[in-house]
Amino acid sequence: MDTIQDKITRLDRDRMPVHVAMIMDGNGRWAKRQGFMRSDGHAEGVSTVHRVTKLSSDLGIKYLTLYAFSTENWNRPAEEVATLMYLIGWAIERELPELLRNNVRINLIGDIERIPEDARKRLFDARDATAHCTGLQLNMCLSYSSRWEIADSARKLARLVKEGKISPDDITEEMFADHLATAGIPDPDLLIRTGGEERISNYLLWQIAYSELYFTPVLWPDFSDEHYVDAILDFQNRERRFGKTSEQVQNEN
Ligand code: IPE
Ligand code: IPE
Ligand code: MG
Repeated sequence: MDTIQDKITRLDRDRMPVHVAMIMDGNGRWAKRQGFMRSDGHAEGVSTVHRVTKLSSDLGIKYLTLYAFSTENWNRPAEEVATLMYLIGWAIERELPELLRNNVRINLIGDIERIPEDARKRLFDARDATAHCTGLQLNMCLSYSSRWEIADSARKLARLVKEGKISPDDITEEMFADHLATAGIPDPDLLIRTGGEERISNYLLWQIAYSELYFTPVLWPDFSDEHYVDAILDFQNRERRFGKTSEQVQNEN
């Protein structure tokens, strides 16, 4: 049996994903299985965020994008939403010293104005305090949905047209992408969803056009470093063709 260290050694350092995105799902089911409250599952999930961030940083991954709270999650029971908001603010503050030590830069993606003031302030503080960091960029998607983001990009471009700054014919894919919340960030190479559902749930729809998708039944609180390395090893066994033939891709390498 391979140990986690063996698996890390097996990683091809020349073919590491630059950007890993994750849909952190399964906290509620994890809690239910243990006979706990859903909020206990979310609290446990914070430990996985800590581990995944550390390992991404240690492996030299440049961007980690985590789906922490979707626009649709606002429709959950008020008590669960309040717990999640509290946890997000508490966790980011607690993690800040270690994020700084590991040179991790926090970036916030989503309709952050909707986050309650207390948590929002802690998020902004963490973002500002890590602005100088040059290691892993941790993108936290909060009150985020991809359709919201795409509509927002369309709105921004429409305004530029109205102001006479661009013509509709000038609009390119690159320009559209530059008005998304992820402007300047390369598209994810690998998207991991825990919790067993094989769907995208309104996440990064534009950006994942050519991402490798990895679905695992492991619930988010149980998602270990070894599970993460397994996902990267699986990614490294795939051939990314971007529409070309296998022969073309092999000749390029
Ligand atoms: C993911 O876990 C966390 C959030 C969506 C905020 P869930 O709370 O969705 O857990 P399940 O899917 O009910 O198990
Ligand atoms: C997706 O999980 C959103 C986050 C992980 C933040 P959900 O649990 O909200 O997704 P659905 O409802 O099962 O599609
Ligand atoms: Mg879920």
